[in-house]
Amino acid sequence: MRISFCCSDTKPQPWVDGLKAAFPDADVTLWAAGAAPADYAVVWAPPQQFFDEQKQLKGIFNIGAGVDALMKLRLPAGVPVVRLDDAGMSAQMAEYVCHAVIRHFRELDAYEADMAGGKWSYRKPRLRTDFPIGVMGLGVLGERVSRALAQFDFPVNGWSRSAKTIEGVRCYSGDAGGQGFQDFLAASRILVCLLPLTPDTMGIMNLDTLSRLQPGGYVINVARGSHLVDGDLITLIDNGHLAGATLDVFRTEPLPSDHPFWKHPRITITPHTSARTLREESIAQIAGKIRSLAGGAPISTLAGVVDPKKGY
Ligand code: NAP
Ligand code: GLV
Repeated sequence: MRISFCCSDTKPQPWVDGLKAAFPDADVTLWAAGAAPADYAVVWAPPQQFFDEQKQLKGIFNIGAGVDALMKLRLPAGVPVVRLDDAGMSAQMAEYVCHAVIRHFRELDAYEADMAGGKWSYRKPRLRTDFPIGVMGLGVLGERVSRALAQFDFPVNGWSRSAKTIEGVRCYSGDAGGQGFQDFLAASRILVCLLPLTPDTMGIMNLDTLSRLQPGGYVINVARGSHLVDGDLITLIDNGHLAGATLDVFRTEPLPSDHPFWKHPRITITPHTSARTLREESIAQIAGKIRSLAGGAPISTLAGVVDPKKGY
C-alpha cells in the first residue's frame, strides 16, 4: 500500500513518521511533484497539481474537519473524501466557545480593567435568560458546543439544514432563506458560527442577518472567516446594535497587520486555534478508516465521508 502525505502549512515529518508507525508495511511518503501513484492521500489544502498527478487514489483523507479548501479543487471523480470526525476537536471547541460566552456574559473584561486600575467594584448580575445563544451548524462540533452551553443553563437555540432533536436545545432547521432561520436569529442574542463554508453559507453573517439578532448581540465565529462580512460586523458594533465579537477565523490568515479587527476595542481575536488538529488522535482515526477501506468495508460505513453535492 502507498500513502502520500501532502500538506501546505503543517510540519510534515511528524505526520509522515506517525503514518509510517501506523502502517509499518506500507510505503508512506511526503508528496513531491512526479511522485509514484499512491493508494491513499492524507492532505491539508494541497495544490491542484497533487490531484492532477495522483490518478490512482482510492481515498482522500483531510486532516481537518472543514473541507472548503479541498472542495475548491478539481478532485478525482468517484474517490471518497473523508474529513476528521471530531478526533479531539469537539472538546476544544466547547471550551473555547463556553469561555467566549462566559467572558462576555460575566463582563470579565470589564472586571479585568477594574482590577488593573486598582478598582474594587461590583456589576449588577445579568440574567442568562436575557442572553439566548444561537448556534449555527449542529454537526459534530455544533452539537457538542450547544450541549455544553445548555449545561450552564443558557437558553440555547440551534440551526441546521436538516431537523434535529438535542436535549436542552431549541432546534430550528431549513435553508438560509427560510422562516426557520429568521426565527432562529430573532430568538438569539449571542450567535456562534459552526457551519461548513459552502456556496450556501458564504457571507451568511452580514448586515441583514446580524441586524436580526436581539439588541446587544454578540458574534463568535469559529468556523471560517468567509462566513462573516467583516465591514458589516464593524458597522453593527460601531452603531451599538452588537456589543462585540470573538473571532478565531478570518478571510485572510494570518490576519493582515492593517486589518481593523486588530485594534477594535470590542473585538477579540485568536489565530485560528479554537479546535486544533491533534496529530495522534487524527492519525489513529485516519489509519482505522484506511484499514477498513483496504479491507473492503463499504464507504457508507465510515464516519465523516463528505457529500460532494452538499460540499461538507
Ligand atoms: P459537520 O459535522 O459537517 O456539521 C455541519 C453542520 O452545519 C450540520 O449540522 C449541517 O446541517 C449544518 N449546515 C451545513 N450547511 C448548512 C446550511 N446551508 N444551512 C443550515 N445548516 C447547514 O461539521 P463540523 O465537524 O461540526 O465542523 C463545522 C465547521 O467548523 C467545519 O466545516 C470548519 O469550517 C469549522 N472548524 C473550525 C475549526 C477552528 O479551529 N476554528 C476547527 C474545526 C472545524 P445538517 O446536519 O442538516 O447537514
Ligand atoms: C480547522 O479549521 C478544521 O477545519 O479542522
